[in-house]
Amino acid sequence: MIDPVGPSETSAGEASAAEVLSHARLRFGGEVVGTVAACDPGPVLLNYRECFVRDFAVSAAALLAAGQSDSVRAFIVTVAGLQARAGADAGLRAAPGLMPASFAVVRDADAGDGAGERMVADFGQRAIGRVAPIDAALWWLLILRAYRRATGDEELQRAPEVRGAIEGILALYLQPQFEMLPSLLVPDGSAMIDRRMGVYGHPLDVQVLFWAGLRAACEVLDAGDPLRDRAFERLVALGRHLRRHYWLDRTRIEVIRRYPVEEFGDARRNPWNLHPDAIPTWTMAWLSEGGGYYAGNLGPARLDPRFFALGNLLAVSTGLAPAAHADGLFSLIERHERDLLGETGFKLAYPPVEGRDWALLTGSDQKNVPWSYHNGGSWPMLLWPLASAARVAGRADLARHVLENAVPRLQRDDWPEYYDGPYGGLIGRRARLRQTWSAAAALAATALLRDPEAEDPFAFARDEALEAALEGAGPSVEDDASVEVSAPDVPTRGT
Ligand code: GLC
Repeated sequence: MIDPVGPSETSAGEASAAEVLSHARLRFGGEVVGTVAACDPGPVLLNYRECFVRDFAVSAAALLAAGQSDSVRAFIVTVAGLQARAGADAGLRAAPGLMPASFAVVRDADAGDGAGERMVADFGQRAIGRVAPIDAALWWLLILRAYRRATGDEELQRAPEVRGAIEGILALYLQPQFEMLPSLLVPDGSAMIDRRMGVYGHPLDVQVLFWAGLRAACEVLDAGDPLRDRAFERLVALGRHLRRHYWLDRTRIEVIRRYPVEEFGDARRNPWNLHPDAIPTWTMAWLSEGGGYYAGNLGPARLDPRFFALGNLLAVSTGLAPAAHADGLFSLIERHERDLLGETGFKLAYPPVEGRDWALLTGSDQKNVPWSYHNGGSWPMLLWPLASAARVAGRADLARHVLENAVPRLQRDDWPEYYDGPYGGLIGRRARLRQTWSAAAALAATALLRDPEAEDPFAFARDEALEAALEGAGPSVEDDASVEVSAPDVPTRGT
């Protein structure tokens, strides 16, 4: 609970969360270099005893808020050292510049204490489904930038191994693609949703992380550095693209519902040849009630209107969402609080895919059945991006209220990874307990909401130079007539 305790006091929920985070510390050569994903007292399963880069972002937020920056620094250097590099060996291997999804410290059973330790990084070669970790490098950039903001240490980013890692990431993420869009073309399951769930192509969560990673890179690189100029150019193109084409609200849906199809040439209004009949009824109902959000995916004849929480919340905290969008998003969240927020966290994706859609999109994945796990499950880790976004949008009260209800419950349930059910009321059927980022999110969110003045090192303030560039009329390859089209006259009588 937040209210009953002052800044120096700690609630039982926080004390429990801090204990989970502390227990999760992963050591290498005696130094803490990360946190394992979960310390479930049950049998150790799969890779939950590894440090996931994306999970550590939440741990880093909690650790930096508590003034514990040493392990964050050690993590940054460790992961820089694990980055995939160009090598002489032929065959399938991680692309140079890629950061691992996770790493483990493997101990040689015969060696003495501290001796015979090695790091084993997973770039997807061991992961379930062999999924690629496109988000890891972007999270790493965000952690590096947050460390700098929280500590004032401007030397780390200049250390050769860290500078080299930044260069490697930007070389990979800014390379030419098969398409002419500023968004990243990504394979399925390459981020937090690391299973098939129809999140390939241009999924929002990854695009917003790309935006955030580029912003972080622009901040840590010096003005005048040509690498920074390239990152900034892509940032602007990406930001325009996402703001213009992903945002959905009543006005946009009125335009899309009247799109002409099968257009060719420069003066198109419907660049992706979206078929208006494909818009599901629930979206129309949602948007006619007010508010708005960023669509889950966009591509040829494809507008995925599912609500993806991570991308939407990070859009606000990282400044992708202009004030009007941030406001619209929180109005939507308030209107659909029971559906999206439930009792224990935030729905990762809403609504779930069901029936034949579920079978086709997930490959009949039994872990992602409707209302469970990634497919309509509620995630306590999202309390952290919720708190961060709510502060930016001026809706801290909403996040505070959610956190007050959730934290005692999470503590009682021993910090589950996720919850099931339409309102998130049941512990996830296959959820780990003592899940580190569930506990870290409660700590980081509490710190952000308790002190409105506290710096949020993962959030980005409005940057006037960036806004001017985003609003500028510079040519963009994906600019077309559609962006100029405003809502047509909405007929007042049936047509
Ligand atoms: C699951 C989640 C992934 C997370 C990992 C460790 O694989 O889908 O997002 O990073 O568990 O918690």
